Formats: sequence, C-alpha cells, structure tokens
Amino acid sequence: MKTRGFSPGLEGVIALETEISFLDAEKEKIVIRGEDLIELSKEKTYVDVAYLLLEGKLPNEDERQAFENQLKENYHIPDAVIDILKLLPKNTHPMDGQRTAISVLGGFDTNIDDRSAAENKQRAIKLLGMLPTITVNSYRILNGIEPISPRTDLSYSANFLYMITGKEPTELEEKIFDQLLLLYIEHELPNSTFAARVIASTQSDLYGALTGAVASLKGNLHGGANEAVMYLLNEATSATHFEEIIKEKLQRKEKIMGFGHRVYMKKFDPRALVLKDALYELCQIHGDFSLYEKCEVGEQLMEREKGIFPNLDYYAAPVYWMLGIPIPLYTPIFFSSRTAGLCAHVIEQHENNRIFRPRVKYVGKSYS
Ligand code: SDX
Repeated sequence: MKTRGFSPGLEGVIALETEISFLDAEKEKIVIRGEDLIELSKEKTYVDVAYLLLEGKLPNEDERQAFENQLKENYHIPDAVIDILKLLPKNTHPMDGQRTAISVLGGFDTNIDDRSAAENKQRAIKLLGMLPTITVNSYRILNGIEPISPRTDLSYSANFLYMITGKEPTELEEKIFDQLLLLYIEHELPNSTFAARVIASTQSDLYGALTGAVASLKGNLHGGANEAVMYLLNEATSATHFEEIIKEKLQRKEKIMGFGHRVYMKKFDPRALVLKDALYELCQIHGDFSLYEKCEVGEQLMEREKGIFPNLDYYAAPVYWMLGIPIPLYTPIFFSSRTAGLCAHVIEQHENNRIFRPRVKYVGKSYS
C-alpha cells in the first residue's frame, strides 16, 4: 500500500472532502455551505445558520420559524439524565457533565442503529433543542443549584442566556450572545470535529461521535482556551500587569491561551475581529473599558514578540464575562453551539463513508 509521508499533527493533510465548510485563509473567509460566516454573523441568527448546516440552504421566514419551534419542542431532557447528573461527584467539570448527559441520551434512542440522513437530522434537531438545557442544568446541578426550566416565549438564544444568568437578556445582550453562538457554530475540521468523524466512520452512532467531540473540545489547546483566557485576564490587575504576565509566560516558553491557530497561522482569526467589536459595545454600555484595554495590550504584545494573532477564544472570553456568564460554562456553551456543525459532519460521514485508518512511521526498536 502506498503511504503519503508523515506530517506531525496531520498539519497540512487533507483528511476528507466535504460540502459543509472551508477555511479560506488566503481570502480570510470562513465558508459555510457557500456562505461567508462573518457576513452571516452581521445579518442572520444562530438558528438561521444551524438550519443552513442541516438543510444546505438558508431558511425563509416561515422555515426559520418552524425550525425554531421544533427546537423549542425539544427543550426538555429525560428525568433520568437529571438523576444521573445528580449522582456525579460535585467536582466534576461541566464539560464532563455535558459529555455524560449526551452519552446517556443514546440509551433513549430506540432507533439508534438507523444512520440514515433523515433519522440523524431528527436526532440533530432534538439535540440542538436539548443542549442548552443540558449545558446549563448540568452546571447548576454540579454546583448544587436547582435546575432551571427553559422559556419558550423567548428566542432560542435569549432563552439560553436567560437559563444561564436567570435574568431576561436585554436586546443588545441577546444580539451579542446570538452572534457569539453563531461564530462558534462550525469551523471546518478542528480536532473535535475530526474526532466525531473518525468515530462516525466506524458506523458508530451520533451520540458516540458527539461524546468523543466533547472530550476533545475540553482540552486547553482547543475549546478549553476560552476559560483559560478569562482566568488570565482576571489575574491581571491592569493592562500593564497583563503585559507583564504574558511576557513572563513567554520567557518560560509557555503558550498564551487565545492566540495562534493551525490554519490562520500569522493572521487574525476573522471571528475574533467581530467579537472585539462586540466587546467594545459591551464596555461602552457598562462604562468600563478595563477588559478591552487589557486585550488590546495583549494583542499588540503578541504581534510584536511572536507575530501571532488572537483566535476566537481570546475575545469570546471577555464577551462571555461581560454577559455575566460563569467561566466554567464558556467551553460547554462553545460545544452546545458547535453541535449544529458536528451533526452536519456526522450526517455527511454516514452518507458517504470510508473508515479512517491512517498508518504510522515506526521509530521503535529494530526487529528482524
Ligand atoms: C480553537 O482548529 C480550529 O479551528 C479550532 C477552533 C475552532 O473553532 O474549532 O478555532 C477553536 O481551538 C482555537 C485555538 C484555541 N487554543 C489556544 O488558544 C491555545 C493556544 N494556542 C496554541 O496552543 C496553538 O496556537 C494552537 C494549538 C492553536 C495551534 O497549534 P499549532 O498549529 O500546532 O502551532 P505550534 O504549537 O506548532 O506553534 C507554532 C509556533 C511555535 O513556536 P516555535 O516553537 O516554532 O518557536 O508558534 C508558537 C509555538 O511556540 N505558538 C505560540 C502560541 N501558538 C503558537 N506561542 C505562544 N502562545 C501561543 N498561543
């Protein structure tokens, strides 16, 4: 069998063909089924783009309304999931609570071996409906807080933010939170999406593929970076102090969370630019620019010292903070949003499958 040489971390390797998304680093475009994600983030909502990912086209107003109603019909999760979450040790990370809940859902699916696109699409709609409830209530249960009920009188994003904070969001908060969910929704083939497709390629089910994706996303080098960014920003007492902290970390050869990207390399993640503007808007409303100033000096320092730019997580973190979202929920919310993209990838993998089975470059002990 012909092998194609070794690339650490599969850097630069084309692993599959897809109609779902593509990162055109040259044109600085994030293409989602032919649409530009950044343009979508200014004109459409998360529900619109979730529909685009699952149906292959943007919805008209009736289709959008019907789709959002379907999501709302699936807000409630089985009581057994709540009971199991209550059995978890209280120091369980919310990402592990989310992973546990998704894993349990497979047991309620009496048709789990039907991997048809129609069946998987119905599962995706149910999961998109349940994920905000799973995300928030696994966090609340692990923190000894009574689960909160969803509100169908609010939009999908407004309900999600309401469940997190317990307060009905303002129009601006709803707009910015929806934009944050939309920017996280799909991003070609990051580690977590690749993990989901590798699992689905054995003809394993959607729940198993998503369970693997949650485990991947939790890592600090991937989705966990947004929480790490916020802890770093809060450690700094001023913009100058933030600069000192970063300099010390660089001297210790440590990676600075929220910077760098395998695909964007030496470019600004276009999604980060959108959330930088959103952060400015929130700082203006709150009359407090301290977070914005810290982020700016961090950005300038990393460009000067390393020629490295922010990724989405760098500006998502302070936006989450200004929206009153607890830090341990940052990555679970990222995953909840990305469920739309992940389900689209699993559907595509099941429809046109070849099992992933790469080779290795053996550098172990010689043998006869
Ligand atoms: C996400 O793939 C996706 O699309 C993911 C994501 C999505 O939407 O799904 O965009 C979400 O995961 C964003 C990334 C979040 N992670 C972080 O912010 C963690 C910090 N970032 C780094 O760990 C790193 O930049 C990665 C993991 C994002 C990318 O790693 P690569 O492509 O393997 O790059 P590398 O580690 O080989 O670094 C290349 C050089 C090195 O310098 P040298 O050793 O060659 O001198 O750049 C340096 C690195 O030291 N470098 C950094 C750095 N990132 C790269 N130096 C300091 N801080 C950083 N953050």
